Amino acid sequence: MCGIVGYIGKREIKSRLIEGLRELEYRGYDSAGIAVMQQGRIESFKAVGKLSNLEEKTKEFSTEGLGVGIGHTRWATHGKPTELNAHPHMGEYSYVVHNGIIENYREIKQMLEKEGITFLSQTDTEVIVHLFELEAERHGDLFEAFKATIEQLDGAYAVLLVTQKAPDTIFFARKGSPMIIGRNGRGEIFFASSDAPLIGEAEEVAYMEDGTVGYVTPDRLHADPEPLLFVPLSGDKVTAQKGGYRFFMEKEIYEQYEVMSDTMIGRVLDDDIAFEEIDAAFLEDISRIKICACGTSYHAALASSYLFERLSKIPVNVEIASEFRYKEPLLTDDTLFIVISQSGETADTLEALKMAKEAGLKTLAVCNVDNSSIVRLADATILTRAGIEKGVASTKAFATQVMVLWMLSLFFAKKRGSMEGEAMREELRFMHYVPKVLQKSLEVHEKCKRLSKRYLHGHGFFFIGRDLFYPLALEGALKLKEISYLHAEGYPAGEMKHGPIALADAELFTIALMPKTLLYDKTKSNVEELSARDSTILSISPEMFELADDFILTHPHNHPMLEFFEMMVVEQLLAMEIAIRLGNDVDMPRNLAKSVTVE
Ligand code: F6R
Repeated sequence: MCGIVGYIGKREIKSRLIEGLRELEYRGYDSAGIAVMQQGRIESFKAVGKLSNLEEKTKEFSTEGLGVGIGHTRWATHGKPTELNAHPHMGEYSYVVHNGIIENYREIKQMLEKEGITFLSQTDTEVIVHLFELEAERHGDLFEAFKATIEQLDGAYAVLLVTQKAPDTIFFARKGSPMIIGRNGRGEIFFASSDAPLIGEAEEVAYMEDGTVGYVTPDRLHADPEPLLFVPLSGDKVTAQKGGYRFFMEKEIYEQYEVMSDTMIGRVLDDDIAFEEIDAAFLEDISRIKICACGTSYHAALASSYLFERLSKIPVNVEIASEFRYKEPLLTDDTLFIVISQSGETADTLEALKMAKEAGLKTLAVCNVDNSSIVRLADATILTRAGIEKGVASTKAFATQVMVLWMLSLFFAKKRGSMEGEAMREELRFMHYVPKVLQKSLEVHEKCKRLSKRYLHGHGFFFIGRDLFYPLALEGALKLKEISYLHAEGYPAGEMKHGPIALADAELFTIALMPKTLLYDKTKSNVEELSARDSTILSISPEMFELADDFILTHPHNHPMLEFFEMMVVEQLLAMEIAIRLGNDVDMPRNLAKSVTVE
């Protein structure tokens, strides 16, 4: 997820911008850039990779006296992470940085190309700067030109623009993507995507409302449609990075609907599914899939096995990486070997990947961290685009892994001809709906908070579900045990009577995943068996289950994956609220590390 900064003031501008960007590093990025303007001269620098590369490039450059600057860290969505695609993007005499997505950029680009404008990058952002310069020719007033530009953009954006025609001005606009403006008594003005870069610099800040368009100079601030409302800025940097949430985990749960959109951009289209990361030849001669992963990533893999077999009609086998390594596996060269990892550094998963490569298999990584060891080793990679995940208990990374694997199973289905036409379009329509479901699913947070006080003891939890909801039950149990330290197990609902039901009594809590779109009646019978043995039942379902002691009612949906994602959020919130009540450090649970680089 990209980060934006801006500065007007007399201190050295480059350092202000780079320091600001450093505070936004936690959002994740793969390239960075700045543009600095003084006395009408603009200098711009960009670099792929870490901010240290940008620092290296700018080490001979510095400013003295009043000037303005804008900066950006880019997390690639449209176009690869290259220097040309990094921001700021330039026109003839103006520079722009942007967070978000310009949904109608193709139409604008075509229009601008007809006007004779040549594009340097593959990004959606570049249209903004050219459109502005075109509008500036039409309007005498630059702010009118900026407003006319912004009015033509569909999608989400936080935009900063500087132009040599107004050398002491920053134009700004915001809709859907965060942007904050700050100022202090020393006449300095700051912009940033979150509070973090402003702490210790700005004395007061204004959180811009959606639809704000304005400009600022050292002496004047103007915003439409309302003047900005400044409030004092307090707090420390870590609190600011949490964006008002109590824990990173909570913030990451709340971010899921946004990152899910990022995951789908350019891949889930209206009537097609596309992965530019995989060329046509890659899937030739593949007749089976093997997936290896650990922990939460293993649960995503297990969920995907139902999707691959159902949609793509391809046999799938899923293994825990640490088991796979020593079982002397039989590998056949018609197998696509997929590894799934948030960090890309998990030792067991990396080793499994090495084994598959040595056996000559085609390998594919589904990973959240570009340039990680797993990404570097795999033949092809699909990045999950979840942004940096700080909470040790994985949430948004899991959501995006499952999403990518669902998309991949549809991609395979297309290639293998097992799904096409209206059936394919319908599946795509459901995919497009996922971010909305994730947003709506947060409505149960209060209910989870209230219920959590009843689930702080007992001798154990069983999360149960069938089919796709069995891996989700495993994941729910893992979330709970990781951060609450309560004993929890995930089980296939139909297996309880083969042994575990012996544990059932009032102190055994059953968290029952009861989707309406998949095996509802079968699951219900299994839950009834537990209820008959006095287990305390919490049902998670769109339907009221009369024997349950507690309910969390989900929204009704017409597709199991929509129910899956909604119930996933419920599990995450419930685990977090129980852990908070128990007084645990949710972001850094005891004994756990975010990246397990040892065997
Ligand atoms: C659980 C969790 C772990 C990881 C596991 C694999 O919340 O985060 O179970 O899923 O350690 O890590 P990655 O996905 O980085 O390979």
